[in-house]
Amino acid sequence: MSVEETDTHVHLKHASGSTASILKYGATVISWKEDGIERLWLSEGAKTDGSKPVRGGIPLVFPVFGKQTDEKHPTYPLPQHGFARNSTWEFLGQTTEDPTTVQFGLGPENVDPELYKLWANGSNDFTLILTVSLGSGLLRTEIEVENTGKQLFDFNWLFHTYYRIPDVTDTLVTNLVDSRCNDKLLKEVYVEKAPMVSFHEEFDRVYEKIESHKVLQIVELGKVLVTIERENLQDAVVWNPWIKKSEGMADFLPKNGYLNMLCIEPGHVSDFVNLAPGKKWKGAQKTTVGGEIKVQTN
Ligand code: BG6
Repeated sequence: MSVEETDTHVHLKHASGSTASILKYGATVISWKEDGIERLWLSEGAKTDGSKPVRGGIPLVFPVFGKQTDEKHPTYPLPQHGFARNSTWEFLGQTTEDPTTVQFGLGPENVDPELYKLWANGSNDFTLILTVSLGSGLLRTEIEVENTGKQLFDFNWLFHTYYRIPDVTDTLVTNLVDSRCNDKLLKEVYVEKAPMVSFHEEFDRVYEKIESHKVLQIVELGKVLVTIERENLQDAVVWNPWIKKSEGMADFLPKNGYLNMLCIEPGHVSDFVNLAPGKKWKGAQKTTVGGEIKVQTN
């Protein structure tokens, strides 16, 4: 049960032997090992020097998911996925021993002023606290957003989690059936009909307002790799860039790495959270290794 801080990273070790590493840049969890096996996918071409968001691990998306298309929305001038993933967070220290828990903070003073100014001319004041907990067979990440300013603001939140998997073509994701799906590739909204979702081409879908009790599981050849629980995170993006899209990403290596990754990204992105001055909002994802297949229809 140890926490080690360096200039750039925080490394966690739990008594069970599991480990995690967090890069202060983006407060990006870049490694999570259980039973000696790496559970997160990190591109071999990922930049971890602060020059661009990390391709892999758990990048944090705030205050906008994707690129805003509504010119009138205050997040319109911001780059894709906002500024949390490309700001250096402050390490706030360890809060509990078991699970091994640490916290990171981000406020306007930590964001590149040029970038921060793009959001409502720098008039929104906020504090983000990220809590990362490592236990036996589990990793939990929680975010608290506080409006410390004088005006209401709207935001999206998303944990852009890249899981490492043996082979995406042998992989299914459970419990998305009957959820509303915004398919970003087809540009269509429909109700998911597949009892389990499978992967044979580029995949980029936002599953909206999934019932809160439903867990999402990544299942490989009948075996549950991970079970993902969401707390106050109504949506989940499921993404795999496949061949053409990963070829276009210079930091995506190896080029056939899409076979070994799958993003399951719990968040609040199908609409905005409206946060009044003085108010706080929380959301979390908890991932456990293994377990039984849990079929939840409704
Ligand atoms: C996903 C989006 O969440 O992130 C995709 O749904 C996007 O559309 C992907 O391509 C990666 O985004 P980025 O900015 O890290 O290349």
